[in-house]
Amino acid sequence: MAFSITTPIYYVNSDPHLGHAYTTVAADVLARHRRRCGEEVFFLTGTDEHGGNVARAAEAAGMPPKEFCDMVSARFRALASAMESSHDFFIRTTDPEHERRVQDFVQLLKDKGELYEGTYGGLYCSSCEVFYDESELIQPGNYCRLHPNRQAEWVEERNWFFPLKTWAPKLLELYDANPEFVRPRARYNEARSLIAGGLEDVSFSRATVTWGVPLPWEPEQTIYVWVDALLNYRTALEYGLGRDVTATFWPTSLHVMAKDILRLHGIVWPAMLMAAGYDPPQGLYVHGYFTSGGQKMSKTLGNVIDPFEVIDLLGADALRFYLMREVQWGQDGDVTWEGLHRRYEGELANDLGNLVSRATAMIVRYREGRVPEGRNALEPVHESVAARLDAVDLSGALEEIWTLVRSANRFVEEQQPWVLARSEDPEQVRALDNALYTLADTVRALGVMLYAYIPTSAEKILAAVGDPGGIEWERAALGTLAAGSEVHQPEPLFPRVES
Ligand code: MSP
Repeated sequence: MAFSITTPIYYVNSDPHLGHAYTTVAADVLARHRRRCGEEVFFLTGTDEHGGNVARAAEAAGMPPKEFCDMVSARFRALASAMESSHDFFIRTTDPEHERRVQDFVQLLKDKGELYEGTYGGLYCSSCEVFYDESELIQPGNYCRLHPNRQAEWVEERNWFFPLKTWAPKLLELYDANPEFVRPRARYNEARSLIAGGLEDVSFSRATVTWGVPLPWEPEQTIYVWVDALLNYRTALEYGLGRDVTATFWPTSLHVMAKDILRLHGIVWPAMLMAAGYDPPQGLYVHGYFTSGGQKMSKTLGNVIDPFEVIDLLGADALRFYLMREVQWGQDGDVTWEGLHRRYEGELANDLGNLVSRATAMIVRYREGRVPEGRNALEPVHESVAARLDAVDLSGALEEIWTLVRSANRFVEEQQPWVLARSEDPEQVRALDNALYTLADTVRALGVMLYAYIPTSAEKILAAVGDPGGIEWERAALGTLAAGSEVHQPEPLFPRVES
């Protein structure tokens, strides 16, 4: 089986923040999970580098646009690797291989009669680079919902249009045939009703923007940045690995993004693909939007949490865990330093870190570091975890895993192995063997299940119970740890920090 998954490609007009980290971690969790289930995976992320916004940001920085893009794109790439993202390719829309293919694609649309010339006048938010309907803007004053400080302005130009309207019936067919085309359901309904409510054609070229890919037949115009950007999902498969892997990975299995760009991914993207004769994606997952301390994260408000700072202080796993745990997947959520610290201390250091440390210390002390023969006495959770992951419920799967963490901690308190260890009575000895086996094996299974979320710590956990590298999903079942495995007590997985 092959599985292809994407994050949006991020705009380079501002620095990476926690919101970008969120989507990348989410996609990474799914990519890692599918890989260790034995599937062939292509996980794509990258940066979106053309358009008026980027050109303006470069100008403000006093740099030529390409140099500016190189600099900011490198920061997004650095964030992806600092977060331990396991992407297979990092695309940049300024890659010449991408640009060429974007031109080929629009030429194909034109040759198929899917582009026409017209004059466009509309309310345009230059931050979104999107024309909006009056009803989509905040009134009075036509303020942008996503950039509440910016008024959309009336812009008129002659450009090339994509007849999106004519694709409405095909889009509705696509939605009706695939009730899970967009998840969660509320987003599906939102997108479907936009289509049913009537679509406007989309201008696919810009006369006013110079920092972009030129239209092949009219190079004074550039290709609309969103067309250029969406096409990354296709072009990356054609050149990213140095060979064309579209036969294996097309159509894309899952696009992950936040609700802000649902319309473009759920409507414009499948329509332009169908118009070109390509299969539309298999599905979209649309997650919520973060606020910080109840407000939109913004530089001016000063409530932006810098993901690099979090990683420096607490490590990538802490950030990954917090993002996947704190916010109910699919819902909006709020992230704060206090919340991060609370989860780190309460759940990573106490619930999980202490469990691993106690379990391994007791085996070292009472059984000379060898896992005794025994039976795992706890209830397995791997089936419900797998079901949640298959349903792309990332916080739900993590909550299921945490029920096992909690029951293992309760088990230690109930069994009191330190009391059993005082007795030579054969029944007590067997009880201690079973308790120690249960703990070692459960810690191991937790390492397997947590691997997709906190890979570095999971590897340490597996190594501590003598099963390094045992991350295959079948091993998430309980009772698969071999007696005799060599256990050591690891360094604290989540060392205490000052709040
Ligand atoms: N460049 C376009 C996407 C093109 S994809 C073909 C773009 N870039 S962006 O930098 O603005 O990134 C938007 C995406 O970043 C969101 O869809 C989401 O995945 C992530 N997030 C950015 N801010 C976020 C929050 N505050 N909360 C959650 N996710 C956020 O749009």
